[in-house]
Amino acid sequence: MQKHYYIKTYGCQMNVHESEKLAGMLKSLNYEETTNMADADVIVFNTCCIRDAAEQKVLGNIGAVKKLKKQNPNLIVAVCGCMAQEDGRKELFKEKYPHVSIVFGTHNLHMFKDYLIKFNATKQKIYDVWESEKEINEDVDMYRTSNNNAWVNIMYGCNNFCTYCIVPYVRGRERSRAMNDIVSEVKSLISEGYKYITLLGQNVNSYGNDFKDGTNFAKLLKTLANLDGDFRIKFMTSHPKDLTDEVINTIATEPKLSKVIHLPVQSGSNRILKLMNRNYTVEHYKTLIKKIKEQVPNYFISTDIIVGFPHETEEDFMATYNLVNEVKYGGVFGFMYSPRTGTIAEKMDEQVPQEIKNERVNRLLALSKQIIKEQNQQLIGKTMECLVESKTDDGYLATLDNGKNVIITSNKNLTLPTFKNVKINSINRNKLVAEFCD
Ligand code: 5AD
Ligand code: SF4
Repeated sequence: MQKHYYIKTYGCQMNVHESEKLAGMLKSLNYEETTNMADADVIVFNTCCIRDAAEQKVLGNIGAVKKLKKQNPNLIVAVCGCMAQEDGRKELFKEKYPHVSIVFGTHNLHMFKDYLIKFNATKQKIYDVWESEKEINEDVDMYRTSNNNAWVNIMYGCNNFCTYCIVPYVRGRERSRAMNDIVSEVKSLISEGYKYITLLGQNVNSYGNDFKDGTNFAKLLKTLANLDGDFRIKFMTSHPKDLTDEVINTIATEPKLSKVIHLPVQSGSNRILKLMNRNYTVEHYKTLIKKIKEQVPNYFISTDIIVGFPHETEEDFMATYNLVNEVKYGGVFGFMYSPRTGTIAEKMDEQVPQEIKNERVNRLLALSKQIIKEQNQQLIGKTMECLVESKTDDGYLATLDNGKNVIITSNKNLTLPTFKNVKINSINRNKLVAEFCD
């Protein structure tokens, strides 16, 4: 009988892509995907631990499948990803979640297939979390699920140790993939018809630093942008301390590079940036923004911000608020600071009360919403490139490279997906309404 799998993914794009690798391994063992958890023979929780809320959600969801395991004792429940990699979690799953059969971490994701084969043969539970990273494993099956966009890892891990962040502890040190491997993966994705290729790394701007042979992110971008084919290259995430003039210039001048720059500032106060160990000042950040705005046509800048970091005063917060108002971001991901076990910030005194964090994040997001509304209005009359993705009764649905949806009324005949220039005419319930330019 056909066996089925269900993967529940938490957290960022990195995890979304890693779930594509988990799915690839399951497919290679002849499992098929099901969208109904209750029908699954294998349920995988690919977890995130960046904030406490994410962890509580994961634990709640894993707890809830206990009843499915009761109904179907052959069900295999597996837990992997960042949370499984945290100190003490393996033991927690062993002791408190006996319905979980396989636990593995971020460094041994590629072993999942072996674990599954072994478990099916022996029915012995497996708890295997590697302490640290090993060589990059290029030999992974992949089942891509993201339509016209394909994710490509360019590096793993992070060396920055921002004082609030657990990522360096659960994903290890920075390791770049060889440029040849990236280029050949991207080439084959282009030939398969993917229109967007999104390069993934915790800090893409430090790509190649570990090779010490002059390889860097700008070179990688130039190489990829000069491949043949009809595609665009996106990338995330950029760290302000490592974003070079050469990268900005490359983004500005290469037509196949996306103009979306996600540049997390985290705080607009130099005092807080220092406590966060971010290694740049607000002045430096503003210089980068100025260069991007001056050089990159149709730029779209977004950011991450943490409010309520220890010691953050109303004055510090207002510096962040004013920075958001000045930069006029196209998107703000605002987070309330969440203490993470083992990080430096967790031990700082003067933690900010929850009500204040709530109030600050709401104030910030209200401002951002207002800015985005104004920016959408300013798009009216502009010509923009979009990816036309699907047909409707009276036209097409498309997206800008920043993800905004576009509705186009047209009786043109198009082979989809395809890039087209459109003129934005109006806005209808947050969707841009446009017409083809040619
Ligand atoms: N608390 C709140 N937000 C955090 N982030 C990272 N660690 C924490 C934390 N402990 C945010 C940062 C980062 C984004 C991915 O998540 O803004 O850029
Ligand atoms: Fe975390 Fe900072 Fe690394 Fe980003 S750069 S993953 S915030 S430590």
